[in-house]
This record gives sequence, C-alpha cells and structure tokens, in this order.
Amino acid sequence: MSAETVVVNDVGPRDGLQNQPRVLTPAQRLQLIEALVAAQVKHIEVGSFVSPKAVPAMAGTDELFAQLPAGDIEYSALIPNRKGYELAKLAGVRSMVLVVAASNTMNEKNIRMSTDDAMAVCAEVLSQARSDGLAMQACIATAWECPFEGAVDAGVVSGLAARLLEHGASRLVIADTIGAANPAQVRTLMQRLVNEVGAGKLTCHFHDTRAMGLANAYAALEAGIRRFDASIGGLGGCPFAPGATGNVATEDLVMMLSLMGFETGIDLDALIAAGQLAGELTSAATGGRASPWLRRNTHRFARH
Ligand code: COA
Ligand code: ZN
Repeated sequence: MSAETVVVNDVGPRDGLQNQPRVLTPAQRLQLIEALVAAQVKHIEVGSFVSPKAVPAMAGTDELFAQLPAGDIEYSALIPNRKGYELAKLAGVRSMVLVVAASNTMNEKNIRMSTDDAMAVCAEVLSQARSDGLAMQACIATAWECPFEGAVDAGVVSGLAARLLEHGASRLVIADTIGAANPAQVRTLMQRLVNEVGAGKLTCHFHDTRAMGLANAYAALEAGIRRFDASIGGLGGCPFAPGATGNVATEDLVMMLSLMGFETGIDLDALIAAGQLAGELTSAATGGRASPWLRRNTHRFARH
C-alpha cells in the first residue's frame, strides 16, 4: 500500500520573514525560496501584498513573483483587502490567501477593519477572484485565542468558515496565530470543522509559542487534516499579534510525518540546508528543534 500524502505548505518566506528585525532584499527572499524548491517543497507562500508602511519586509513581493523558479509548484500570496487583491493579480499571482481574524479586535489591529467589514470585503474579493478564475483561500486567524480578546468560541470560527466557503473560498486555513491552542482544543475544533466542511477543504497553521506546535499538528492529523502550513527554520510571527513567535518548523513537521509513515515528497537533507540558509539570511536563531539530530541522521530518511 502506498503511503498517504500530507501537503506541507512552507510559509517561511511570508510569515517567517514579515516580522524579522532584518529586512531581506527580494534577491535574498528569492534565494530562500530557491532553497525550498531544491528541497522539493511544492507549496510555498511567497509573500504578502500589504501596505509596505505596515510591513516593510514584504515590500517587493511583486518583483519576487516575476522571478520564481518554474515548475509544478503552488506559489501563493497573502492579501488583506481589495487593494492587495488587485496588486497580486497584476503581479500574476494565481493562488491567494485572504486573511480575516475570528476576533474583532484582531481584525482592527491587523487589517484596520471590523470583522463585519472584513467579511463584506471577503465576499466581494472572493466573488471577483471567481470571475477572474483565480484560486482564493481564506485564512481564519486567531481561531483559538486572540491576544486582545482571549479565548475564541468555536461556533464563531465555524460560522466564519461556512460563510467564507459560501462566498467561494476554495479552501480554508485555520490559524493559531499566537500559538496558544492546546491539542485538546485543536482536536475539538478540527473534528467539528471536518464534520461540517470536510477535511479536504482545511489546512492547519500552528505557531510554536508554547512548544505545542507539533502536538497540535498531531491532534489535527488525528482529526483527519492532511494539509499544514509550516515555516522553514521555525521563523515567524505576526507584527500585529503581541506574543506570537515562530511557526512550527517545516523540518520538524516533515520529520514527524515521515516517521509516522506519511509521504510529503520533501527532501529532508535539502530542507535542512534551507533551514540553515534561513538562519544565515535573517541572523535569527532558527527553530527546528530536531535539526541538530536530523543533520546527523538524514540518511535514515533517504528515499530509495
Ligand atoms: N497593499 C499595499 N498597500 C496598501 C494595501 C495593500 N494591500 N492596502 C492599503 N494600502 C495602502 C494605501 O494605498 C495607503 O497608501 P498611502 O498611505 O501611500 O496612501 C495606505 O496603505 C493606507 O491605506 P488604508 O486603506 O487607509 O489602509 P489602512 O491604514 O487602514 O491599513 C492595511 C490597512 C491592511 C493596508 C494595513 O494595515 C496592512 O497592510 N496590514 C498588514 C497586515 C499584515 O500583513 N499582517 C500580517 C499577516 S496576517
Ligand atoms: Zn502565522
């Protein structure tokens, strides 16, 4: 029997770099993307189309899209509003992720709209994407806990999920933006959403702030989720969500999946090299708890 596939989408070039004290040039960002491509990562979030005043590190994402390595790779970009959609479309982006938070204060802080206004924008942009023939996912941020309002009710997430799909979102990313969820909460919400919308429509996005990133990924796997965001070197964090640290590291997630018998198609040796590059480029201490062990043991994962 062939192994079951899990899709791993590396959001390092976006989530990983948006909050770094060192702002990389588009050429350096491209270098990181090339390293991910060399590791056979087939889903990459390249950047975002947001205000360069709000997030200077993401300026020049349009330039990046013009230079991406060719191949069978889904390159996506995050957008917060209509302007982001127009700019991404102009840059030739075929796959976008529209972000809306589950809590009102987070929306006000992140995209300067109330949840109601953000949902109205979502409806409009999703309908436009549909008529333009572009794939548009929606990301529900702070799906378990908001840094300003605290615990988020699962019913709110479920309601937003249903409306976003009705408006035409191709899939949903359920994000623990600040890394506050625990595995029991992840299991409860993801089981509910799997029942309501189907696992095929769902991606989970975990931050590792409280060292529960991998445990949360495992809980989501058990609930049937087969798509995950992760960030190379565990870089990451949201400039507008106090206390958020890096995403679960792609290296750790791919290692766990591989040891559990799932197929990701990713070359761990080359992935570790990409993680080292991420550290060199950002001068940030990268995560990837298992990286030192992996560097000595990648032969165990060699594909035959
Ligand atoms: N891309 C680039 N520029 C944008 C933009 C976008 N998607 N949306 C708005 N702008 C520009 C406007 O043109 C305007 O520029 P100007 O000052 O040169 O005239 C400026 O941003 C302010 O526009 P306004 O509509 O008043 O936006 P705002 O001040 O309410 O800010 C956002 C809203 C969404 C643009 C801003 O908060 C933002 O980009 N946030 C980033 C969110 C983010 O990346 N979070 C992390 C990932 S979830
Ligand atoms: Zn994130």
